[in-house]
Amino acid sequence: MPQPRERGKPRRRGEASQRVRLTGRAEFSSLAGMRYRFALITGATSGIGEALAKALPAETGLLLTGRDAERLAALEAELSEEGRRIETLAADLARDAGRDKVIAAAQDLPVDLLINNAGTGQIGPVLEVPAEREREMAEVNVVAPVVLTRALLPGMLERATSERRRAGLIVVASIMAFQPAPMMATYAASKAFDLHYAEALAAELSGQPVDVLALCPGGTQTRFGARAGIHAQRSSGWDSPERVAREALAALGQRDVHVVGGRNRLVTSVPRFLPRRTVTAIFRRALSGLGEA
Ligand SMILES: NC(=O)c1ccc[n+]([C@@H]2O[C@H](COP(=O)([O-])OP(=O)(O)OC[C@H]3O[C@@H](n4cnc5c(N)ncnc54)[C@H](OP(=O)(O)O)[C@@H]3O)[C@@H](O)[C@H]2O)c1
Repeated sequence: MPQPRERGKPRRRGEASQRVRLTGRAEFSSLAGMRYRFALITGATSGIGEALAKALPAETGLLLTGRDAERLAALEAELSEEGRRIETLAADLARDAGRDKVIAAAQDLPVDLLINNAGTGQIGPVLEVPAEREREMAEVNVVAPVVLTRALLPGMLERATSERRRAGLIVVASIMAFQPAPMMATYAASKAFDLHYAEALAAELSGQPVDVLALCPGGTQTRFGARAGIHAQRSSGWDSPERVAREALAALGQRDVHVVGGRNRLVTSVPRFLPRRTVTAIFRRALSGLGEA
């Protein structure tokens, strides 16, 4: 089996901040060298997770999770080929029992790429979003990545060290992670957590045989928008999940944070130069229109 790219040497001091630099599309033309043995992808039943599963090479075995067993079975059938191991597991990541099920399944497999992708969002003022939905965002977007990462990373590091390979860890955050977002307060805060968590982990683990990436897509054409209550007309011009997946896999090992697309890189850099209240007011106005017809 081809080996993952040997990036060997521990990261030098100062290199981390250099990797955060936001760069253009030209760098993402090749996935050469990206070879993992076994990937766990949460939220693989649609959108970005499904696109990531399809973008990985056939040498990479897969543990695909989500709640929808039928969609998982269809994806498994589509990606199956001679000699490739693909496991599927229907589990609700909003609940301890579901998270435990995923961890137990993954611990029996040689996972060396963990993609914490499952996520859910809801547009609307906090006090109008049902309390259970608010909690679900925190459970799926925050608790699940923390619990899965904490449980699986030690084994990933141990295997990577003993086999002289590199492991990979992707946390799917969002461009919403870069500022507070009234009308999507809990979602944006959960994604800020994902971004900071992955960035901090990348720094803690520099020198270890694992690459960590906080992936920050902007609007992407998936089921997310409709499920979050965002009107379909507002989502024209959004990126394809295939583009997001391609860029994610190309950026892993190259930088700690990747914002998808030039316009999104601009949008995420502007808040640094404005007073926080101004930024919050701008986002309130922009997001207030998203849920309307
Ligand atoms: N689309 C965008 O505009 C956008 C922008 C920035 C960031 N993101 C992030 O990208 C990630 C993927 O979202 P997507 O855009 O691909 O949306 P999507 O098509 O709705 O996919 C979300 C995935 O998460 C899974 N999921 C949701 N709740 C779950 C739960 N309770 N337990 C287990 N799995 C659950 C879904 O599976 P089941 O329904 O089968 O459970 C589905 O596979 C999310 O973290 C999202 O926050 C999306």
